Formats: sequence, C-alpha cells, structure tokens
Amino acid sequence: MKIFKTIESLQTGLSLIDTNMSLGFVPTMGALHQGHLSIVKKAKKENDFVVVSIFINPTQFDKADDLKAYPKTIDNDLELLKDVHCDFVFIPDVEDIYPENVKSSNFDFDDLDKVMEGAFRDGHFDGVGTVVKRLFEIIEPTKAYFGEKDFQQFQIIKKMVEKDHMAVQIVPCEIYREKDGLAMSSRNTRLSEEQRKEAPLIQQILLKCKSIYAEREISNIKKMVEDTFKDNDILDLEYFEIADVQTLLSTNDKLPNIKYRAFIAVFAGKIRLIDNIALN
Ligand code: PAJ
Repeated sequence: MKIFKTIESLQTGLSLIDTNMSLGFVPTMGALHQGHLSIVKKAKKENDFVVVSIFINPTQFDKADDLKAYPKTIDNDLELLKDVHCDFVFIPDVEDIYPENVKSSNFDFDDLDKVMEGAFRDGHFDGVGTVVKRLFEIIEPTKAYFGEKDFQQFQIIKKMVEKDHMAVQIVPCEIYREKDGLAMSSRNTRLSEEQRKEAPLIQQILLKCKSIYAEREISNIKKMVEDTFKDNDILDLEYFEIADVQTLLSTNDKLPNIKYRAFIAVFAGKIRLIDNIALN
C-alpha cells in the first residue's frame, strides 16, 4: 500500500498503472470502521486497483464545532486499509483541494439537495459535490463507491456525474451494520452506554415500516414512527420520510412502478444518527 500526500505524487503514482486496468475509488473522511472497509473490499473485488482518499472536507460542515470535533484516527485508518489490501491512499491537505479559497461551488442537483439532510444541513451537499468533483478530476476513477447509509449523498453524486457527463460509474454499497442492527458510523463511539443500548430501535422501526408497508397507508406508517419516538426519552426524532428513491420527494401515496425508501434522522443527545431502508 502506498500513501500519497500531494496531488502531484499521487498522479505520478497513477500514471505508472497500466491504462487497461480498472481503477476503483472510495472517498472517505477517515475515522474508518467496518462500514468503510466493506466498501473498500467491494471495490477491490470489482477493480484491478483501488484508491481510498482520506480528507475531512471543511466545506460540507455547516457547524464549525462539528468540523473541529471530527475524529482523526489516521494511524489506525492506515492499518485497516493495509489489512484489506488497499493499493493507494490519498491524504491531501486543505490547500491541495482548495488552492484558492475554501469555498463550495454551487450545484444544480435538480432539488435532490433541498430535502432531508439538505434541508437540515445548510450548504452540505454543495460542499460534498465540490470535493467529490475535485477528487474525481484528480484521480479519474473507472468506478467510485458510495454507501447507501448516505443514500441522498449517493443519489446526488449520481446526478452530478450525469449532468456533468463525467466518465465514472457510481456504485452503491449496502449499509453495513453492528450485530444489533445499528448502522455503523464513526459517531456511534460517542454514544453513552444508555444511548447505545437504545440506538438499535432506529433500524427496528425501519424494519417494522417495511413489514407493514404493503397493507398500511403512508400517513399511518408515519404516525406509528412519530408516536414511537414521542414515548422515547433517549432518542429524539428529527425527521422521518417515505420518499421516491429517484426524486427523494416525500410522498403520501404509493404510486405504481415507483420505488420508495424510508429515511430517518434521530438525535441521541447531541449525536445525530441517520438510517434508511428500501420499502418495495
Ligand atoms: P464518510 O462519512 O467518511 O463516508 C465515506 C463513505 O462510507 C460514504 O460513501 C458513506 O456512505 C460510507 N459509509 C459510512 N458508513 C457506512 C455504513 N455503515 N455502511 C455502508 N457505507 C457506509 O461520506 C463521506 O465520508 C463524505 O461525505 C465524502 C463522500 C467522503 C465527501 O467528503
């Protein structure tokens, strides 16, 4: 495994790879866990060569405190990446990614960024689009891998690639979970014992939605979820939506031939947890 800290050195490294080889790319912000590694393993299986980037992207944080508090575990990250036979790791500086000013570009994601995470985190997806586009231009991957844990992010990147006619295939990766069902996240380690015990309720409620989806009205399913969290002292519901997977627009009707997913964001104290599930 080779580690590159500048664009120039990475591009020199990449230029030595056979041009016939497929190049898989996994962008991350580090603090790696098994969820990230499951993506790297999939990319390894599907490509001749895999690049993982570790870059805490300042422009996608709407709160300065969140950016400051973002966990940094670089030595451990590199160990984990070595174990899964990652080929190249790219760890750029902020000045490399943002040579002029640390600012997002404005994107037109056809309103995919106006709902859910976008509605609650100002400017977040412009920041994500800016950094991912920059990384794609530097690395020029054949395929790039995104977790369905951040399903909205995956759809937004797909939209950006489609609109800008970028030559990269965007591949979704299943949500990787703890044994008790909680979606893996670097934030899980910040939960108190009590919060951690309660957190699997998030997936349990999504599974319940899926199991009753066929026979219940959407308004009824929403009420069931809202009532569950009203009675809960540890987890606070921020949003629950049932949305069309393509437009991400929330719906109150089940239209034929449309795929729907349930999306949820919950606070455990100050820690925000998200999850989602395919319903049909
Ligand atoms: P980060 O939160 O580090 O996540 C990197 C990738 O891992 C994302 O595609 C995310 O969806 C995926 N991921 C995280 N937890 C997962 C889990 N439990 N199961 C499956 N996939 C999981 O997402 C970002 O970084 C940034 O926004 C980034 C795309 C790197 C741009 O800065």
